[in-house]
Amino acid sequence: MSADDLIRQMHAYYRDCAPWHDDYMSYTDNASMEALLGPIIDLIEVDLVGKRILELACGTGNWTQVLVKRAGSVLATDTHRSSIDLALAKTYESPHVEFRVANAYRLSDFIGPEDGPFQVVFAADWWSHMPKSLIPGFLDRLHTHLVPGATVIMLDMTPKDSLIMPDSYYDDEGNYIHPRTLPNGKQYFVVKNFPSEQELYAVVSPRGSQIEYHENHPLRRWLLKYVVA
Ligand SMILES: C[S@@+](CC[C@H](N)C(=O)[O-])C[C@H]1O[C@@H](n2cnc3c(N)ncnc32)[C@H](O)[C@@H]1O
Repeated sequence: MSADDLIRQMHAYYRDCAPWHDDYMSYTDNASMEALLGPIIDLIEVDLVGKRILELACGTGNWTQVLVKRAGSVLATDTHRSSIDLALAKTYESPHVEFRVANAYRLSDFIGPEDGPFQVVFAADWWSHMPKSLIPGFLDRLHTHLVPGATVIMLDMTPKDSLIMPDSYYDDEGNYIHPRTLPNGKQYFVVKNFPSEQELYAVVSPRGSQIEYHENHPLRRWLLKYVVA
């Protein structure tokens, strides 16, 4: 499958998945999420306080609730209206949050200078879904929306056995493609990569400094944080 086909499959999967997403992730409410993911939140809290934050792939707003509590303001974006509608139905501790449909690969089509300057970018469970060949261009375009010295925070999953399935495969550029079936019975092939720390450093170190990488195995999470050059 080409990178474009992979993006189309991912697009269809998340468009259709929104109603089931929170159950799939076992996200019930903000308090239990904060309790569960407290060790991750502790790693980023200092970067969030009082800042203008751009959130990518915000989904149904679970991490938006975490960000809004600490930020100065948040522009939370996702490419799917269905996810944003569910995010809008949640409650936020501060009124300084706006949701907008935006494709993370083409931010300039959706976000202008008047929306910034952004001091922090945050994305949870987004990096793993990018075909590897698209990551450098994605980062270079993203950085044009940030102030020098902005912090980029990417949070994602470490491998889990349940994602190793008979129909999974690696494509020519090393993307891990695996099937996902929704409760509506439809099947989609989705990129879900588990980059190594070395891979992350290789793509980020030409573009940033103060790179930090953390893994939390009980929570099956990795966190990458760096400052834009
Ligand atoms: C695994 S979910 C993560 C949602 C949320 N960040 C969370 O942790 O609950 C991935 C999200 O990426 C969004 N998405 C998929 N393709 C996108 C794109 N090109 N631009 C922005 N968001 C996209 C999907 O709509 C979905 O909400």
